[in-house]
Amino acid sequence: MSNVELVKGVYWVGAIDWDIPPSSGYTGTSYNAYLIVDEKVTLVDGVKHSHRAELFENIKKIIDPEKIDYFIVNHVEPDHSSAMIEIMETIKPEKVICSDMGMKTIIEHYHREDWPYEVVKSGSEISLGARTVQFIETRMLHWPDSMFSFLKEDGILFSNDAFGQHLATTERFDDEYDLQKALDGAKHFYATNLTLLSPLIRKLLKSLEAMDLDVKLIAPDHGVIWRSHKEAILDAYGTWSRSECEPEVLVVYDTKWKSTELMAKAIAQGVEKGGAPVCLMSVKQYHRAAILQKLLTASTLVLGSPTINNSMIPSIGAFLMTLKGLKPKKKIGATFGSYGWGGEAVRHMNDWFDDMKITRINDGLRIKYIPDEAQIEECVRFGEDIAKATLELGEGA
Ligand code: FEO
Repeated sequence: MSNVELVKGVYWVGAIDWDIPPSSGYTGTSYNAYLIVDEKVTLVDGVKHSHRAELFENIKKIIDPEKIDYFIVNHVEPDHSSAMIEIMETIKPEKVICSDMGMKTIIEHYHREDWPYEVVKSGSEISLGARTVQFIETRMLHWPDSMFSFLKEDGILFSNDAFGQHLATTERFDDEYDLQKALDGAKHFYATNLTLLSPLIRKLLKSLEAMDLDVKLIAPDHGVIWRSHKEAILDAYGTWSRSECEPEVLVVYDTKWKSTELMAKAIAQGVEKGGAPVCLMSVKQYHRAAILQKLLTASTLVLGSPTINNSMIPSIGAFLMTLKGLKPKKKIGATFGSYGWGGEAVRHMNDWFDDMKITRINDGLRIKYIPDEAQIEECVRFGEDIAKATLELGEGA
């Protein structure tokens, strides 16, 4: 895709990756890099190594890459920096502008202490000529090196991963794209990358508000640029970072011989009967990223696994491992599963819930081998109880 002018003299020069393996949980993304043409021509961020040719082609349509003076590196994760050696060899910039941790992280990745680093801190400014860039460190959001760059005169906040979406699209602005899909993409990104960092994001949003920047565009390093719906994405980040949930039940399960699946469906039926919104997601059908996206704003997790070798089915173990790392807050839940003799899966899942501080509604439901009619009814009642606990959360809000 060719470059796009954001405002006069400021261009998107990134690359679109249409070909992400499904195992990643998303099918495409973009690596957004930006070029500011001023007295000091400045490149903001790079692209993944596989997409460097697109970056250079896009720059060449505007200016000879050797004329670039400054290279701002907001974040060193390889999807933005793995073309750095080729970029540096081509543009030979006067300055590589990054945070202190950015410089250390670049050296730890590319082992080049000789590059012309200029370390900036929150509040530092650099003049490009007619324009000024102000820097805002966003340490641990989501790497220690991360920072934002704010192009003051044009009101463009280059926000690296923050507010981004893994979407492959030729539309570059939120108002050219389906807003709900853009917000869903941002939610997916937040749920899978940023949930753990929610307390820091709350602080960052507050400090951005206090800075009272005149932001006209929020230009992340993935997906569409926020131009007409900045409030929508900022509000969404506010909601997600405060762990605000809707009263909604998410039944997540895997099954060996379909007994746990029978239980899952009967439980979902009971939740529906109890009047709460419910969504049934098998880990065989849905990538864990899609489940995490849904769970970000759902209050209640009901997790099902059969007992296998005195433990959970491995797919549910992997899901719990991912969830534990993200430390979701303010969730309630319950567990269930079919078993043959020991029935340990429910106990293990309960232990994981307790460890993650997911408030358990009950001690779980275990059913031996294949549920009969009466046991299916028991699952429905179990679902009704979960619906009741879920709806009570809404009343308490
Ligand atoms: Fe898009 Fe943290 O890299």
